[in-house]
Amino acid sequence: MGSHPINLNDRQKHLKQRSLVIWFTGLSGSGKTTLSDALEQELYQRGYKTYILDGDKIRNGLCKDLGFSEYDRAENIRRVGEVANLMMDAGLIVLSAFISPFEADRNLVREMIGADNLVRVFVDCPIEVCEQRDVKGLYKKARSGEIKSFTGISSPFEIPEESELILKTAENSKEELVGMILEFILPKINFI
Ligand code: PPS
Ligand code: MG
Repeated sequence: MGSHPINLNDRQKHLKQRSLVIWFTGLSGSGKTTLSDALEQELYQRGYKTYILDGDKIRNGLCKDLGFSEYDRAENIRRVGEVANLMMDAGLIVLSAFISPFEADRNLVREMIGADNLVRVFVDCPIEVCEQRDVKGLYKKARSGEIKSFTGISSPFEIPEESELILKTAENSKEELVGMILEFILPKINFI
């Protein structure tokens, strides 16, 4: 039996899909989790093998030693970038939902994963709308000073210089936006 170390191409053939990392970036409450969950449903129904990495979950486990200083956010994104890269190398379609507020950290992720394997999605929503939604009551706490270094209030969010997709969650429905992502990624993940 001829054997060679199993490589990414073997894994992709086995899973009948091309692997990819879809990286959502945007303010707290902009819609990263909502869109990645809805996108995963659509991919799952089509038989794709996916996994979601989401800030709120990862910060309770892998990154529970980290806070929200600039240094800790950079370390958070470096770690999840490495994990996303490993999962991509295992053949999965990875959906990553982190604020990832700094351009330098997002660029580092792009270097790790490789531009061809990454789709950068800017979940673009005015902070006024995120604050009005205030799903978790965090903006209220940030305004009162109970939460320090809150993105968009007391910690920066750097607008991405370049993205494959810009999704305006204050203007379009979830269904429309998921449709846009699908249209963009299906040709990339289809294994032929
Ligand atoms: S980062 O900046 O990429 O490292 O952040 P991330 O890992 O995505 O974690 C963001 C979620 O943590 C909650 N949270 C805060 N966000 C921003 N700033 C501060 N200070 C903060 N404290 C807690 C919040 O629920 C974020 O989740 P989302 O889904 O983005 O609202
Ligand atoms: Mg979220």
